[in-house]
Amino acid sequence: MNSLGLVSSSIVAPCTIHPGKGRSRDVITCSRFRCQTRTQKSLYEVRTRCIGASCLPVDASSRITCHEGEVPVSQCPCCGRRATIASLTGALFASFDFRKFAHAASGRPDPKLLVDSIHSRPGWYEEFFALVLEKLMKSYELQMGDRKAQLFSYLGDKALTILELGIGTGPNLKYYAKGRDVSVIGVDPNQHMEKYARAAAINAGLQDSQFKFLRAVGEGLPVDDDSVDAVVCTLVLCSVKDVATTLQEVKRVLKPGGSYLFVEHVAAPEGSSLRFWQDFLNPVQEFVADGCHLNRNTLDDIQNAQFTRVNAQRINVPELSLISTHIIGMAQV
Ligand SMILES: C[S@@+](CC[C@H](N)C(=O)[O-])C[C@H]1O[C@@H](n2cnc3c(N)ncnc32)[C@H](O)[C@@H]1O
Repeated sequence: MNSLGLVSSSIVAPCTIHPGKGRSRDVITCSRFRCQTRTQKSLYEVRTRCIGASCLPVDASSRITCHEGEVPVSQCPCCGRRATIASLTGALFASFDFRKFAHAASGRPDPKLLVDSIHSRPGWYEEFFALVLEKLMKSYELQMGDRKAQLFSYLGDKALTILELGIGTGPNLKYYAKGRDVSVIGVDPNQHMEKYARAAAINAGLQDSQFKFLRAVGEGLPVDDDSVDAVVCTLVLCSVKDVATTLQEVKRVLKPGGSYLFVEHVAAPEGSSLRFWQDFLNPVQEFVADGCHLNRNTLDDIQNAQFTRVNAQRINVPELSLISTHIIGMAQV
């Protein structure tokens, strides 16, 4: 991590947004938001690759110092186009303008500015979404409960500090908090999730002092480096704005040897009829389901995030129709 709190890494994944455009050779990139140096402006404009929400300079030989928000989205050939599409289809969702962010003393973006910019939704929408999620997750848990219980059994019995990213209404707490000596930090940008998550924490046997809710996004966690034993994240990477940055944040907050446990719905195989419908319905899904994408290749993102080890399984749960393709697994830092 450099002095600005930004991360350089090598990324070899092809571009997921514009498949023809990405170059599959190593690049030195900033995985946190869009970035460039002023001196590399022309390079940036003529040779970019688009990875998730970020456009990145393609140049394997030079080091790049990144400043968040230095590049207006409109100057970027990839994001410029995406921003236009987003503004047409996503009336509810605020545009993603990193220039607004002040640098905190730590060099990281201000978590409050970040959550307001990335996840600014009308209050009524957030309240409604929290209520719907509370109802909907009950049938999802019937399908996935056993698999989740098995995954969380890998947490073992020792005392743990667990950060659950995108905790929502807290349906996972009953699997990993019951009968374990844990402190849980539930992170979610939607403040209306807190009352449901808190009730779920009480049902799982946690005392008030063992559960903390933070309104924040995965792209900028207000949590110290190397401070948690495990990060739990289920059905969230489909919704975050920037998957790569979120995964770097997960790695940053995990203690050495810590585990990231995930369950995500992902894109069905290319060419399948399910994939056709996922691609076709994705804009509608984003609109009605709080920014959720049906067709992300999230396992590629996890594998590209340079954890020391990733164990994951692809599973098919036909009862879940459009989101029937899932990945479930664990990664270590
Ligand atoms: C489909 S819900 C899943 C909730 C919960 N993890 C579960 O399994 O039921 C997605 C959650 O991610 C949260 N979310 C959306 N964008 C996020 C972001 N950028 N960072 C963290 N959480 C986010 C939403 O508020 C919502 O609670």
